Amino acid sequence: MLPTPLTKDLDFEKVYEPAEDSFLLLDVFEKEKPWLESYKWNSDVPLVVEIGTGSGVVTTFVNQHIIPQGLFLATDLNPHCCNAVLGTHKRNIGKKGNLQVLQCDLTTPLRRNQVDVLIFNPPYVPSETVPEVARDPDSEDWLDIALLGGPTGMDITEKVLDSLYDTLSRNGVAYILFCARNHPERVMENFKAKETQRGNGWEIECVQHRKAGWEVLTVWRFIRR
Ligand SMILES: C[S@@+](CC[C@H](N)C(=O)[O-])C[C@H]1O[C@@H](n2cnc3c(N)ncnc32)[C@H](O)[C@@H]1O
Repeated sequence: MLPTPLTKDLDFEKVYEPAEDSFLLLDVFEKEKPWLESYKWNSDVPLVVEIGTGSGVVTTFVNQHIIPQGLFLATDLNPHCCNAVLGTHKRNIGKKGNLQVLQCDLTTPLRRNQVDVLIFNPPYVPSETVPEVARDPDSEDWLDIALLGGPTGMDITEKVLDSLYDTLSRNGVAYILFCARNHPERVMENFKAKETQRGNGWEIECVQHRKAGWEVLTVWRFIRR
């Protein structure tokens, strides 16, 4: 079993603490390692982007153990997470690895069709509304932003799905986490129907399924064709 990156020095009042969902993603990448190692990327240096990196535990794990040759970009709205991922990456990998960090909304500043691997553990918990983006770095809302995803928990994930074809490179791959209350099977049916109308081809598979406390979490792999 591959070791989990250390994150214990972070301020978990401001940064999402790695939890069952984060660890599920680590397990997904450990399982996917042979498949990813033999995957034919468009480039020898695949661009790996994690949206909403939090503590940086997933980006660091994937850079350290799964895609060491990759160029990594970690994004988050929360400035504390942008600092956290730099610290986590340095503490666990040192000067090896290749990481850039961007404080931004999802992947909005990126050029189209550049991302070879996209990773997203979104704010998936159903809630009345999605919290307003906090502008004040001392705000106490950062953990709400990490968790709350609107009435079906899908408000943020839907934005990522809607632009996924334009975000990924040809043959690009995305790993996105859902909870059962997001109704992922229904989401996939709607996604496929919409994308077929747009003429966009996909291979979609549920690559991990686990009961985590009272939540049932799944991770879905999207391959752009
Ligand atoms: C459930 S946490 C996951 C954190 C980390 N990836 C993990 O697995 O432990 C969701 C993260 O997404 C970030 N986030 C929420 N909305 C975002 C947005 N619109 N753009 C970028 N990051 C966002 C939050 O700040 C939080 O760090």
